[in-house]
Amino acid sequence: MKVTVAGTGYVGLVTGVCLAEKGHEVTCYDIDKSKIEKLNSGESPIYEPGLEELIQKNLLKSKICFTSNLKMAYSNKDIIIIAVGTPELPDGSANLTYIENVIKDISSIVSKDIVVVTKSTVPVGTNDRILGWLENYSSKRVKIDVVSCPEFLREGSAVFDTFNGDRIVIGSNSTEAGDKVEQLYKNFSIPIVRTDIRSAEMIKYASNAFLATKISFINEIANICEKVGANIEFVADGIGRDRRIGNQFLKAGIGYGGSCFPKDTKALVQVAGMVEHKFELLESVIKVNNLQQLKLIDKAVELMGTLKDKRIALLGLAFKPNTDDVRESAAIVMAYELLKKEANVIAYDPVASENMKKVLGSRIGYSDSIEDALYGADIAFIVTEWQEIKDFPIENYKKFMKEPVLFDGRNIYDLNAIPGWMKYFSIGRKHIL
Ligand code: UGA
Repeated sequence: MKVTVAGTGYVGLVTGVCLAEKGHEVTCYDIDKSKIEKLNSGESPIYEPGLEELIQKNLLKSKICFTSNLKMAYSNKDIIIIAVGTPELPDGSANLTYIENVIKDISSIVSKDIVVVTKSTVPVGTNDRILGWLENYSSKRVKIDVVSCPEFLREGSAVFDTFNGDRIVIGSNSTEAGDKVEQLYKNFSIPIVRTDIRSAEMIKYASNAFLATKISFINEIANICEKVGANIEFVADGIGRDRRIGNQFLKAGIGYGGSCFPKDTKALVQVAGMVEHKFELLESVIKVNNLQQLKLIDKAVELMGTLKDKRIALLGLAFKPNTDDVRESAAIVMAYELLKKEANVIAYDPVASENMKKVLGSRIGYSDSIEDALYGADIAFIVTEWQEIKDFPIENYKKFMKEPVLFDGRNIYDLNAIPGWMKYFSIGRKHIL
């Protein structure tokens, strides 16, 4: 099939590249010309395992091309996939301007019947608005159907997730249009779930809200574990073995971040509010997460009295390992809090420092290695569980820090591995002093 993907962010780029890998003729469109240039030279603008290799392979096979040219993007296609951003507005709702702009562009170009697929995460009812925009902006006599096909890939394992997803949700109010999208995925061997459009839109938000709820739940249990002398790792294992609960997303830590959970949970609270439903549970999930991000700093203040002029190493800046994405990362919240407490912060991340510089600039220092970040530090915080940080020899904390005081926000160490000379604090487990 001839497919165009509008937007080369995480979702759009990975979707386009994986569809090309499965044999479709894919055009990826973006207004950002420098990004398109990079992509055409085979370079991925994002750090995502396996992605760059697939871009290069499919460019060579001419299965994929990247363009900023509207005609090239939208003329003579079977399916157009919308994967542009829906950033959060100050009131927590989703900003749909980028989607509306794509619809304007599509309407001005397409001259044959086509299916428009929405992959961007959009509030319930948005696809109906998209249909309305298409009717408004299109002057040509062509049939344009709209299908909601939400994305469930995770950053850091996006390519794997696209080929190995648990389900592909196709929400359409036209059987013919839904069938066409089903055809697009026929080589993926992933179960297809067919629904109406509004249910598909809701599946996306409800999935992310449920996963965020699991995380806040386990973090609350962790906080109680600490007080009653239980160990959250055992508890999570014990409850996760019940198949009705499942063992995933039960890793306690300093809360969830990223471009999805924080934004989508707030948006769902907003959507519920619009239909006069106060989503008490999800509001608490968000509140718990906000508090969780500061838990270790509170403990550090308790231990040290003050953090003023202390040298603090932040290990990991990305919101999770295997990505250079720092959006809504706990590291940002922690860095601001530490700066407020007049600490000197020096950070290390294997790939995300450049992105963090755009957020925090020179308010914190950046080092090129874990050793450098730890050198002369009074306290170290593990923020992201990068493999490199997990593999870092524990003796080195003693070697480089002023005093080996470690706050582990991701429980990367077994408590039995903590040497007697280290002060060690983690989440939902006893402190070692
Ligand atoms: C999430 C969902 O997992 C995807 O299914 C969805 O497609 C995506 O949002 C989206 O809506 O686009 P992502 O944000 O990439 O994916 O990352 P996750 O792996 O879900 O992690 C999110 C956050 O939760 C991270 O900060 C991670 O550290 C945290 N987390 C995750 C925990 O604290 N504990 C866990 O057990 C799992």
